[in-house]
Amino acid sequence: MHVKSVSLAAGFFAAVEVGAMPKLDWTSYSRGIKPAQHPISNVELGPRPYYLTNDMDDGPLKQRLSSCSEMEMRPTKFSIGHRGGACLQFPEETVESIMAGTRMGAGIQECDVAFTRDRELVCRHDQCDLHTTTNIVATDLGAKCSTPFTPASNGAAATAKCCTSDITFAEFKTLCGKMDGSNSSAMTPEDYLHGTPAWRTDLYATCGTVLGHKEYISLVDSLGLDFTPELKAPAVPMPFDGDYTVQKYQQQLADEYREAGIAFSRVWPQSFQLDAVAYWIANEPEFGAQAVLLDESGDSAETFPGAVANLTTYKEAGVQIVAPPLPYLVALGEGNNYVPSAYAVEAKRLGLKLLTWSLERSGPLANVAAGEDYYYVSIANGTVKDGDMYRLVDVLVQEVGVIGIFSDWSSTVTYYANCFDLF
Ligand SMILES: *[C@@H]1O[C@H](CO)[C@@H](O)[C@H](O)[C@H]1NC(C)=O
Ligand SMILES: *[C@@H]1O[C@H](CO)[C@@H](O)[C@H](O)[C@H]1NC(C)=O
Repeated sequence: MHVKSVSLAAGFFAAVEVGAMPKLDWTSYSRGIKPAQHPISNVELGPRPYYLTNDMDDGPLKQRLSSCSEMEMRPTKFSIGHRGGACLQFPEETVESIMAGTRMGAGIQECDVAFTRDRELVCRHDQCDLHTTTNIVATDLGAKCSTPFTPASNGAAATAKCCTSDITFAEFKTLCGKMDGSNSSAMTPEDYLHGTPAWRTDLYATCGTVLGHKEYISLVDSLGLDFTPELKAPAVPMPFDGDYTVQKYQQQLADEYREAGIAFSRVWPQSFQLDAVAYWIANEPEFGAQAVLLDESGDSAETFPGAVANLTTYKEAGVQIVAPPLPYLVALGEGNNYVPSAYAVEAKRLGLKLLTWSLERSGPLANVAAGEDYYYVSIANGTVKDGDMYRLVDVLVQEVGVIGIFSDWSSTVTYYANCFDLF
């Protein structure tokens, strides 16, 4: 490991030594991106990293980030495109989100994987989110939904539940991706499509191009990037359709890379199910070696200690990379500085590598921290403005030692990674 040793007592500014930044160790896991393989050579970050930097308190970190404002930016695997890497403004899990995230320097692209009625794998965050992420309820396919649209009435919310497993791949491909949201007061299917949070936008939500997993492989391969497919837990009883077992679903994921001629060294398969990661380790060892176990077992104060204890179980099961939500990794120290959490310290002790999610997911940071988003409750008192985003990233990189960050707006992480030479 080339990361700084974790010190709970270390204050934030003490952790910043300009010019002496550690290198991350992707190299032992995967080759670096060679610019010639990356057809998008003009990485563009847009105004956001500069806005965030300007919003910071004065100090060494702000100075360092400000000094990079005119640097030429390169793509980096440290910047992982969450649901495509541009969901702050683009419909998630679409070609458009992937292209925008790649333009902003994401070096690894995510596809959340669910299956259709005819067992094709497609990119969708949940098997049953088509009613909030596509226009399905306002099309003829709405009739095939597990729960077709029902208008609001007498104070009861409008409802719908539409799953990828309700329709065929060909039908799925006729849908338009939109910003995730719905209108619980809707009286008509068209009205139900509304509900994009005010801090996002519908500017690019005209008809996002939805993607099959094989199409995603071919697109991301053509962009010269790495892959991080997340196998979503089935939302229907398995085996589905007679003999489609969980194991067949888990195997199909690896098979589609093999069939496309993609080296497993470029694939970082993820799952919340230890079971799935264990399957890959046992049956597809090369695929499983880079598997990422997503962890959401410590979402409350009561369960958090259990999540820390679970890390030993994961290690013993052969897991090498764990990915919790970022507030699991950061706590508030003296003077409201961010410091590594007990979870971060234990993961490091066990030699587990860490990824984390998801930056830029939840709107203005100060609003989120002050509000009810449990993710940020533990650091709320130390989070007062958008510029704190880079304080968070800095402690995650320099003290916790994460090797990549999932982001809904890739430029934020790409900028930090370039400024600190994380390749
Ligand atoms: C939600 O639906 C209600 C009832 O149809 C409508 O009055 C309202 O304008 C809709 N909200 C949005 C954001 O479209
Ligand atoms: C992890 O911790 C949670 C909460 O303490 C517990 O409910 C869960 O069963 C644990 N999971 C594993 C895989 O050990």
